[in-house]
Amino acid sequence: MVLKEVTSGKPAAEVGYWTAAHARGRGVASRALEALTCWAFDTFEADGLERLELLHQVDNLASCRVAQKSRYDFDTILPAAPPSFPHDGHLHIRRTST
Ligand SMILES: CC(C)(COP(=O)(O)OP(=O)(O)OC[C@H]1O[C@@H](n2cnc3c(N)ncnc32)[C@H](O)[C@@H]1OP(=O)(O)O)[C@@H](O)C(=O)NCCC(=O)NCCS
Repeated sequence: MVLKEVTSGKPAAEVGYWTAAHARGRGVASRALEALTCWAFDTFEADGLERLELLHQVDNLASCRVAQKSRYDFDTILPAAPPSFPHDGHLHIRRTST
């Protein structure tokens, strides 16, 4: 679980995650993401953090489901950017108010 680019006065930061293959499908990522999200807003809202962004490739259905379960609403389709991101992506956002 990672929280990237938290800067004082900047309204957005990015989250990312991965779990060990043998532990997948048990809700680990969703629970960890909820804990990270709550901690990040509690800790950095006073510094101006308003939203957390989550990006995944469109074919990553498990990651999309984690985003949905964790109340990161789908926002936009991001165009592919090969070679790092060969497929289009989804941007999901969770705001402090949700
Ligand atoms: C994405 C990832 C973090 C999910 O971790 P996890 O601990 O299995 O996540 P959870 O158990 O909380 O939730 C996974 C959900 O995806 C669903 N899912 C898994 N594979 C799926 C598939 N192929 N299609 C649709 N849904 C799928 C599961 O059923 C579950 O949903 P449910 O609770 O409604 O049944 C994990 O698969 C992973 O590390 N993948 C490789 C790295 C990666 O893709 N990271 C994200 C980059 S954006």
